[in-house]
Amino acid sequence: MATLSDLAASIELEPGAIEHLTGLTASWSLLADLAFSDLLLMAPSSDGRLLVLAQTRPNNRTTSIPDDLVASAHEVAEWPLVARALAGERAVGQTARAGEEGPLATWAVPVGYGGRTVGAVVRLQGARGGGSVFEVPYLSIFARLCTMVSDGTFPFREDDVAGPGLPRVGDGVILLDARGRVEFATPNAVNALHRLGIYAAPTGQTLSELGLRIRALERARDFGLPSLEEVDVGPDVAIQVHGVPLVEEGRVTGVVTLVRDVSDLRHLNRMVLNRETAVREVHHRVKNNLQTISSLLRLQARRSDEEETRTALLEAERRVRSIAVVHEALSLEPGEEVGFDEIVQSIVALVEDTALAYHPAEIVVEGELGVLSTDVATPLSLVLTELLTNAVEHAFTDASEPREPAGIVTVHLHRSAQRATVEIRDNGRGLSSDFSLETPTSLGLSIVRDLVRNQLLGEIEMRSITPDEGGGTYARVSVPLRGRET
Ligand SMILES: Nc1ncnc2c1ncn2[C@@H]1O[C@H](COP(=O)(O)OP(=O)(O)OP(=O)(O)O)[C@@H](O)[C@H]1O
Ligand SMILES: [Mg+2]
Repeated sequence: MATLSDLAASIELEPGAIEHLTGLTASWSLLADLAFSDLLLMAPSSDGRLLVLAQTRPNNRTTSIPDDLVASAHEVAEWPLVARALAGERAVGQTARAGEEGPLATWAVPVGYGGRTVGAVVRLQGARGGGSVFEVPYLSIFARLCTMVSDGTFPFREDDVAGPGLPRVGDGVILLDARGRVEFATPNAVNALHRLGIYAAPTGQTLSELGLRIRALERARDFGLPSLEEVDVGPDVAIQVHGVPLVEEGRVTGVVTLVRDVSDLRHLNRMVLNRETAVREVHHRVKNNLQTISSLLRLQARRSDEEETRTALLEAERRVRSIAVVHEALSLEPGEEVGFDEIVQSIVALVEDTALAYHPAEIVVEGELGVLSTDVATPLSLVLTELLTNAVEHAFTDASEPREPAGIVTVHLHRSAQRATVEIRDNGRGLSSDFSLETPTSLGLSIVRDLVRNQLLGEIEMRSITPDEGGGTYARVSVPLRGRET
C-alpha cells in the first residue's frame, strides 16, 4: 500500500506541509469516530487532478467506502466540494459515487498549514441507520476539530500522544467545557468513573467537584496541549485518560477526553516494569515539562504587541524545544547515551520550519556522529540549532526572488575515536567584514561560544568562504569525546 510519503512526490508541497499532513493522519481516527464517517485526505497532484493521500474508517460504524482509494487520482469536476475546500472554504453537500446505493453525505474541510490550504479532509457518510444517540454532540465536536484542521492547529505540533494504542471514542468520551465542567459523558466513560470510585452524575460538574484531579486534563486545558495519563486507584485499577484540547482563535474552549479502562493491561505491564522504563519515563516527563515551557513562551509571544519582545520570546521557545529534542530521543532509547543522528534530523526539521519565515533554504546532512553521551549531545544540539538558524536567518537575506543559486546549507558530521566534528556551510552572503566571533553582543553566538568552549571543552571557528570557493559562511565545531564516552 502506498504511504503518504510515497505519494508526496506527486503533489507539490514542501516537506513541512507533508509532515503536517502525515501528523494529521496519525491523529485523525478521532475525527472518523466522532463523525461516524469514512475520511479521505486529498490534495491536488501535479497533473491537475486530485490525489487521495490517505483514507481511514470509523471504528464505530460500518464503512461506506469498502474499496481502498489511496493513491487513486480523480478529476476535479467529480469532486466539486473538494475543489471548494481547496480554495479555503468548508463545503457541505453530497457526493454520488458509482456503485454506491445512494449519494454520500459529504463535508470537505480545508487543511490549513502556514496560513494556506494544503489539502482537504473529506468526510463521507452513507445512508443513515444504526446512528448513535451521541451523533449530535459528537458531530459538534467533530465540527470544532474541523475548524482546527482548517486553522492549522490540528494535528498538534507537539503531538507525542498520537497514533495507535490510545483510547478511542468507543472506549468512552467525556466532553469538558472551557472551565472544566462536564458537558456530557458516554456510558462507557461513566463506567470508567465508577471504577475510579465516582458515582455522582458527572454532567454539569467539574472534575474537581467530582473529586478527581487529572493533570493531563489540566495540561490540555491550560496549555492547549494534548496529554495522556494513567489514573490509578490502588494497585488494581488503571484508567487511561487522553485529553485533546479544542482550540479556537488561540483559546482553549473545551477538552475532549477519551477514557479507557486499562486495568488488565496494567497488571501485565507491572510484571515487565523495570528500571529501564522508569528512566525512560523520567526523560519523557522532562521532555513534557520542556514542551510545556516552550508552549508557555509561545503563548506569551502571541500576546505581546511589540515585535521585538515577540521575536525574543519565540527564540527562547525554539531554544527550549531543541533541548526537548534530546530528551525525546532519550525517552525512546534510555541510557546515558543517545543516537545523535536522529536528533540532527529533528533539529533540521525544526530549523526548516523557522526558515519558511525567511527564505526557503535546503539543509543537507552528510556523515554521521553515531551515539554520544548526553552531556555532549545536549549542548551540541543547542549549538547546532543556533548555527543552522543563523544560516537560514542571515545568509540569504540579500536574495532577490527566486534566489540564484538556491540557498543550501550543508551539515557535515564527522567522528573519530577522540573527537566529534560538525561543519556547517552555507552558500549565502558570508559574514560582514567586521564580524568577530570573540565579540558578539548578540545572544545566539554567545551561547554557542560558551557551550563549545566552557561546557564541551572544544573549539569553534567561523569564517567567510571566498567567492572563488563559492562564497558563503563556514563554521566548524570540534569537541573532544575522550573521557566522556564509554
Ligand atoms: N551564516 C551566516 N551568514 C551571514 N551572517 C551570519 C551568519 N551567521 C551569523 N551571521 C551574522 O552574525 C550575527 C550574530 O549572530 P547571532 O546568532 O549571535 O545573533 P542573531 O542571529 O542576530 O540573533 P540571535 O541572538 O537571535 O541568534 C548575525 O546577526 C549575522 O549578522
Ligand atoms: Mg542567531
